[in-house]
Amino acid sequence: MTRPNRFQPIHKALRATLFDATALVARTEFAHQGEAAAAARTVATLLDLLDGHAHHEEQFVMPELAPHAPALAASLEADHSRLEGLQAELRALLPRTCSDVTAEREAAGQLLGRALTVLVADHLRHMDREESEAMPVLWAYRTEEELDAMDGRIRATIPPERMPAMMRLMLPALSTPELAGMLSTARAQMPPPVFAQLSGLAREVLGPERWANVARRVGLDSPA
Ligand SMILES: [Fe+2]
Repeated sequence: MTRPNRFQPIHKALRATLFDATALVARTEFAHQGEAAAAARTVATLLDLLDGHAHHEEQFVMPELAPHAPALAASLEADHSRLEGLQAELRALLPRTCSDVTAEREAAGQLLGRALTVLVADHLRHMDREESEAMPVLWAYRTEEELDAMDGRIRATIPPERMPAMMRLMLPALSTPELAGMLSTARAQMPPPVFAQLSGLAREVLGPERWANVARRVGLDSPA
């Protein structure tokens, strides 16, 4: 049996969000105050997401990994520290991208674009290490039930009002079989009204064609 890679779904969402934010900043005219403010808001949301994700890994994943692969855990934690530093630099640029002085906004916009590209490159390598090096260690030393419990502890820290925003990022980033698997599990585990909210959100964010494919695989009535 192929065991699920626990890092992959959230990492897919993070990659999509990193790429979208990078493309947005690249096409932003920072001389235009409205465009600059929209780019700054998008980057601030991205940084909050990345910081929250790193905290989850440090609090809930590293303690499972460190006893069995201490050097790998230390190296991944060093990645986290370096990424945190890059993210702090980006965050410090945001007020300058909203300056009243046009030249200041333009200069900050250039720096923001460069810093974001470097951040993306660093995150891509880091996330790949977690998926390809850390995950096999967890598979070797933890059962699926134990990993389900770890995921459950992470989910429990996300306030319910933040869940729809997380799902809006995650659902479009997953493949059709992954979506079908997630919705099948959710349908088996969630109270029907909660599942109805999730499937309604999926229908909205996936668009009619992808939703119809997913709904057919899960055995849901797609037009409903
Ligand atoms: Fe990480």
